[in-house]
Amino acid sequence: MSITKYLVLVSVFFMAISCKTDKKTEVKEEAPVVTKTQEVNVYTHRHYAADQELFAQFEKETGIKVNVVNAKADELMQKMTSEGEQSPADVLITVDAGRLVRAKDKGLLQGVTSTTLDKNIPAHLRDTDNAWFALTKRARVIVYAKDRVKPEALSTYEELTSDKWKKKILIRSSSNIYNQSLLASIIAHDGVEKAKAWAEGMVANMARTPKGNDRDQVKAVVGGEGDIAVVNTYYIGKLLNSKNPEEVKAGEGVGIFFPNQDGRGTHINVSGAGVAKYAPNKENAIKFIEFLSSKAAQEVFATANYEYPVNPEVKASELLTSWGAFKEDVLPLAKLGENNKKAVITFDEAGWQ
Ligand SMILES: [Fe+2]
Repeated sequence: MSITKYLVLVSVFFMAISCKTDKKTEVKEEAPVVTKTQEVNVYTHRHYAADQELFAQFEKETGIKVNVVNAKADELMQKMTSEGEQSPADVLITVDAGRLVRAKDKGLLQGVTSTTLDKNIPAHLRDTDNAWFALTKRARVIVYAKDRVKPEALSTYEELTSDKWKKKILIRSSSNIYNQSLLASIIAHDGVEKAKAWAEGMVANMARTPKGNDRDQVKAVVGGEGDIAVVNTYYIGKLLNSKNPEEVKAGEGVGIFFPNQDGRGTHINVSGAGVAKYAPNKENAIKFIEFLSSKAAQEVFATANYEYPVNPEVKASELLTSWGAFKEDVLPLAKLGENNKKAVITFDEAGWQ
């Protein structure tokens, strides 16, 4: 065999090999792109039509499919705990900072880095390790019977313990997380002793033994059982927009007062989301929360349940704007979770049922 012939044969042999290798590599690279569906698995406590609309919008914009598991917050957390490392959950959405902190403490969430989330969500409305982020905001306000109470008579949560409100205050039970978070904020600001004195003063001024939810307190004010109640703002929105005329009447019968405006500001709470500890689709989970914090999504999200947007660039809805601007307590919300146990004990000691 001549040298030339030999060289030709050798080069053909290597070309064949390299073609084969290329083909192999090609197949290897393409397979995952073709077969893997991009998705994000969302465990959520919220059940609003607007949330569904937003999830559909996210799917349209990103091509990432949103799979939703709907249940109560504690059930979702229990599910994530028992699923452990095998959990398909990518995102947990729940209500109240107290619960978000609980989820973090149980090791169900992981901290993530996102300049978008840092920009869209103020620091006091997210976890210090970025394990959760607030998406909507509500204020725990004082509502008063318009026909019996002048708003000038109101000032702070602390002032509700004065003698002038004896047998006039309506507020739900201490087993409720909204009250626990309110007391946790007082503990954070003033310490346990003062918080206990406040809780005792509130118990002394209650118009009845606590029962019912926030809406029931408003109805009882309008029904004359007491003069003032402490409730979350969105319940007034719900009452005013109810199909039941009695509920509309209850909403219309009360005025909204934002307490502690000359001091620390009105206590707020949030609904929020965190990336699950074992999220199989972590990048999609971050994209999903970033989307929910965006200007466009916040406009929808915040009107779903008469809540305030967390993104400072987004204005509140017309109804909420009509209640007036207010100064909010900027205590880091993580403190509400940290002080939750102390709050529960303090309520017990104060005899708040
Ligand atoms: Fe609620």
